[in-house]
Amino acid sequence: MRDKEDERVDGSRRTWLIATTVAGGIGGVATVVPFVSSFAPSEKAKAAGAPVEVDISNLKPGDMMTVAWRGKPVWIINRTDKMLADVQKADKEVADPQSKNPFSMPEPDYTKNEFRSRPDHKNLFVAVAVCTHLGCTPTPRFQEGAQPNLPDDWPGGFLCPCHGSTYDMAGRVFKNKPAPQNLDIPPYMITGNTLVIGKDEKGEA
Ligand code: FES
Repeated sequence: MRDKEDERVDGSRRTWLIATTVAGGIGGVATVVPFVSSFAPSEKAKAAGAPVEVDISNLKPGDMMTVAWRGKPVWIINRTDKMLADVQKADKEVADPQSKNPFSMPEPDYTKNEFRSRPDHKNLFVAVAVCTHLGCTPTPRFQEGAQPNLPDDWPGGFLCPCHGSTYDMAGRVFKNKPAPQNLDIPPYMITGNTLVIGKDEKGEA
């Protein structure tokens, strides 16, 4: 499974650029999900922090897409039930299983649960794809088991290419890694097939 994300990191201010992003589901079936370019707000409004709306109607189980919110990449993953089981399997291996020590924004109340997602859409995972060590973008490693740079009992998750931090399928960092905290979960809400990032019942972030 591979992604096709181009990333540029400059020294003082890490920026990124996505051409296309994808990761397919388990079993090596990769589905290309184009970078979302049809948000309702203007580019200028998005950069300033306006919420972004994303059509998730074509996001099949196991698929992932990446969108921009506040100049950062945000992952949207339709986790399979197997991926959710992988989260439970990783519970004892992650440094902060309850996400009690948030990174750069408060954990939304509705994602304070074992899957870090809204209970009525528990398969949908929304997270800011910025490694909590030094800000690189981790890469999806959904396939379980032995593979380069990962332990033989790898349960599936994400690997940061910069210094090797690993995260589970709920964005929780594994123990004894350079990254100190779990990935941020932005405020979000779901209406029908539309995901809104940066806004929830309490208002805009
Ligand atoms: S930036 Fe991710 S491990 Fe260092």
